[in-house]
Amino acid sequence: DNYAGWQGARVTVLDKLTYAGNRDNLPATHPRLEFVRGDICDAGLLRELLPGHDAVVHFAAESHVDRSLEGAGEFFRTNVLGTQTLLEAVLHTGVERVVHVSTDEVYGSIGEGSWTEDWPLLPNTPYAASKACSDLVARTYWRTHGVDLSITRCSNNYGPYQHPEKLIPLFVTNLLEARQVPLYGDGGNIREWLHVDDHCRGIHLVLQDGRAGEIYNIGG
Ligand SMILES: NC(=O)c1ccc[n+]([C@@H]2O[C@H](COP(=O)([O-])OP(=O)(O)OC[C@H]3O[C@@H](n4cnc5c(N)ncnc54)[C@H](O)[C@@H]3O)[C@@H](O)[C@H]2O)c1
Repeated sequence: DNYAGWQGARVTVLDKLTYAGNRDNLPATHPRLEFVRGDICDAGLLRELLPGHDAVVHFAAESHVDRSLEGAGEFFRTNVLGTQTLLEAVLHTGVERVVHVSTDEVYGSIGEGSWTEDWPLLPNTPYAASKACSDLVARTYWRTHGVDLSITRCSNNYGPYQHPEKLIPLFVTNLLEARQVPLYGDGGNIREWLHVDDHCRGIHLVLQDGRAGEIYNIGG
């Protein structure tokens, strides 16, 4: 209700409820929320579900870097094939607007300074590579098929209900139990963080006013 232009909107959440998903993070019985358990790789389901929707905001992904180091298959299936399957369904069901939610990790790392949106994609992990692929897939649905689609690339998020495998909840819960915390490299890396509410405000702005085919970095 805080998002201008979308007060009173009805929302359908499609989520596979993998290990990362939790139905309790959404209101159990909200009159304008419909929850559907399903996979973005399920073309038939998407063709049934999408008609009547004005916009799709595409969050669904495998997102945990450490898991992608152990096994990347599911990352490429969901993040690349899932994005392509979703956008193909968008094309055939008359959805008018799409925001593809991506990550700044597609740029890799930088010694100092900041990236602009036309920086080369130099992902350093299978997770980041799968998101970079998904961005290119998304771009083609704009360029080839004219889908009104924008891409966002945000820095690391923190906030309520985050899965405890993610850095801040993992560190906090480990430290509360006087356990060690896992650091990459020599611990000298710097990461940028954004509260999830600020990320959502950025996505809302792009959904409302973003240009088709455009990429928007969302940073702190
Ligand atoms: N968390 C961050 O720091 C961050 C930063 C920038 C961008 N992002 C992007 O934001 C999005 C959401 O990130 P998150 O941290 O909430 O991820 P998450 O891993 O915590 O949650 C992913 C959600 O997607 C669902 N899902 C996974 N595979 C699916 C499939 N095949 N079909 C349908 N649903 C599926 C899961 O059940 C879960 O609810 C991702 O696209 C991610 O790349 C996240």
